[in-house]
This record gives sequence, structure tokens and C-alpha cells, in this order.
Amino acid sequence: MDAPRGMADKAMLRTLRGDQPSRPPIWLMRQAGRYLPEYRATRAEAGSFLDLCYNPDLATEVTLQPIRRFGFDAAILFADILLVPQALGQKLWFVEGEGPRLEPVESREDLGRLKRTEDIHETLEPVYETVRRLSGALPRETTLIGFAGAPWTVATYMVAGRGGLDQAPARKWLYSESEGFAKLIDLLTEATIAYLLRQIEAGAEVVKVFDSWAGALAPDQFQKYAVEPARRITVAIKAIHPDVPVIGFPRGAGAGYAGFAKATGVDAVALDTSVPEEWARDALQSDSAVQGNLDPILLITGGDALVRRAERLIEILGDGPYIFNLGHGITPEADPAHVETLVRTVKG
Ligand code: CP3
Repeated sequence: MDAPRGMADKAMLRTLRGDQPSRPPIWLMRQAGRYLPEYRATRAEAGSFLDLCYNPDLATEVTLQPIRRFGFDAAILFADILLVPQALGQKLWFVEGEGPRLEPVESREDLGRLKRTEDIHETLEPVYETVRRLSGALPRETTLIGFAGAPWTVATYMVAGRGGLDQAPARKWLYSESEGFAKLIDLLTEATIAYLLRQIEAGAEVVKVFDSWAGALAPDQFQKYAVEPARRITVAIKAIHPDVPVIGFPRGAGAGYAGFAKATGVDAVALDTSVPEEWARDALQSDSAVQGNLDPILLITGGDALVRRAERLIEILGDGPYIFNLGHGITPEADPAHVETLVRTVKG
């Protein structure tokens, strides 16, 4: 089979296809963000975070900023997982210094007021336009990643109306009226598939599904609401685009990481900070590539501890398919100089 154009030059794509470049590719979750002065300037120009997400000019600019500065091997589309509920008709806003707020969806009646999957694209069209522009603007060695939130994680925000510590509102609904809750997960699974397919048609070369709150699910619920939707999304994407790799991120899944790639068909699993690297090598890397899992706090503190930890991850995981990344998103307090040191360490 012929390799798609440009693939041979892209370390990230090669790793996801089971090949082994001479060093692991590197990118960082939330690499475009408030730790960069140029991001803060563009965000101020946009007016608000959501205005930035829906402005293809400025969203393209902030996606490219960390690529220019650090030469990462992949760029991730600048957007947010909560744009999907907004496109489904749920009211969304961000409170400065606090985070997202949504008008809660708490019952089957509330579900009935949401739009249908085929109607989400009207709102999301500027996001697809950003992907098209990025596809033409990135250096040829840089891979473009599209993304969406996983149905369970998006549902936790939709039901609570905000971020929280324990995802209790969604968990209460799941136990008290599981049929209604399953309908919400079904709707989000369909919308996520439609959204990711459009991103791929616009030029995304890899897609990542963020299940940031997978760790809040009990084991049987994890199968039903994290594994099964991830499997449906992966199967639906591969039915149309068999060569587009999918990265799953069941953050906090613990023992649930074992077998996740096999059960879902994802090409890579992103590891949170708590997953031991020796265990990941022995238990996961034969099933799929792994990505992760440096503690983002080390990008605030820096120094020898940062370099030693990065070297250790490469030593243990670098003999198999491995993508260097953090275990969770970079924080606004991260020092760009430490990011620079990290990139030099991984590329060196
Ligand atoms: O650089 C990138 O990684 C691409 C863009 C991206 C953002 N959010 C931009 C963003 C991605 C991939 C996300 C994913 C996302 N969004 C997740 C899953 C990953 C994770 O971190 O667990 C979640 C849970 C969200 C929802 C969300 N968006 C929250 C809870 C918040 C507020 C918390 C915070 O960090 O401020 C956001 C806002 C957000 N999304 C920012 C950015 C750059 C900060 C907004 C700002 O500029 O004020």
C-alpha cells in the first residue's frame, strides 16, 4: 500500500502506525494556552475564549504559536470539548478565573429540547474552517490533530452545568434513570462521530477523544459509558477513514487502562500521570502506542527533576511505539523556558 503523501516525514504519524522513528515525537496537551504571552495577546484581541474558538483567523494563529516557538511534532486544533453541547443548543459561557458554565440538562425533557446531530455543523463550521487553514499552514513535518470530548466527560459538564470535583450530578442520573442517561450518551456519541468526521474531511490527520473524567466511573459503568462509546466512535471513523489514527484518553481509568486499546480499537492510549511507565510498557505497549505522561507540574518547577523524569520515560517507553506528552494539560503557571528545555531533551 502506498503511504499517504507526506506521511514518511511525519514522526507522529509513523509512530501511530507502529513504525519507530529515531526519537519519540513530542507535543503537549494544552500546548496553546495562557502560559504563552503571545496566546494571552491573541486572546485579548479576540475578546473572550469562546470568541477565540469561533474565529478561524485567530484560532489558527494560537494553534501555530507553540509550533513556531518549540517545533512540536504535532499541532492540536484550538477549540474546546464544550463546543459540541453548545452546538446542540445548550447555553454555554465561561466565567473568568473559574471555568465553564452551562444551563444544566437534567432530565429527558431537557434532552428533548436539544438539537439533532445533523444540526450541529451550523455552529461548528468556523471550527472546520480553522482545520482547513491549519492544514495548509503547518510545516510539512507537523501532524494536525483534531479532537472532541468523550461522551461521558462532556455529559458530566452538561448535567452539572459546570466543572466539579466528583461528577456526582451525572453519576446520580446514571444510577437513578439509566435509560434517560443512556440516551444522552447515545446523542453525544452520534454528535462526536459527526464532528470528528467533519474535522477529518477538513484536514485533521489524527483525532483524539478526551475522557478526562473516566476515572469517576465504577468498573461496570466504565465499560458502558467510557469503553463502549470510544469503541463506537473509533469503529465509525475507521469505517470511512481506515488510515486515520485515533488516540483515546481514559484519564484516571487505573486498572481500566488494561485492554482499553483492544476493546475500543484505538491506535494509541494517552496515559495520565499516575500510570507506572514499566507497567505501561509491559501491559499496554503490545496492544497500541502509548502517549504521556510527564507530570505537568514539572513544567512549573523545572530543573534536574524535569530532565531526569523525561529521560526516564524515554528510557522505559522508547523501545516501543511512544509519543512524548504530559499526563494532563499544561498549566497557566508553566514556564516557557522549561518547555524549551523539555523539547531539547526529547529531541536530543
Ligand atoms: O492546546 C490544546 O490542547 C487545544 C485546545 C484545547 C482546549 N481545551 C483549550 C482551552 C483542548 C484540547 C481542550 C480540551 C478540554 N476542554 C478538556 C479535556 C482535556 C482536559 O484538560 O481534561 C476539558 C475538560 C475542557 C473543558 C474546559 N475548557 C475547562 C474545564 C476549562 C476551564 C479550565 C481552564 O483551564 O481555564 C476550559 C477552558 C480552556 N480550554 C482554555 C483553553 C486554552 C483556557 C481558556 C482561557 O484562555 O481563558
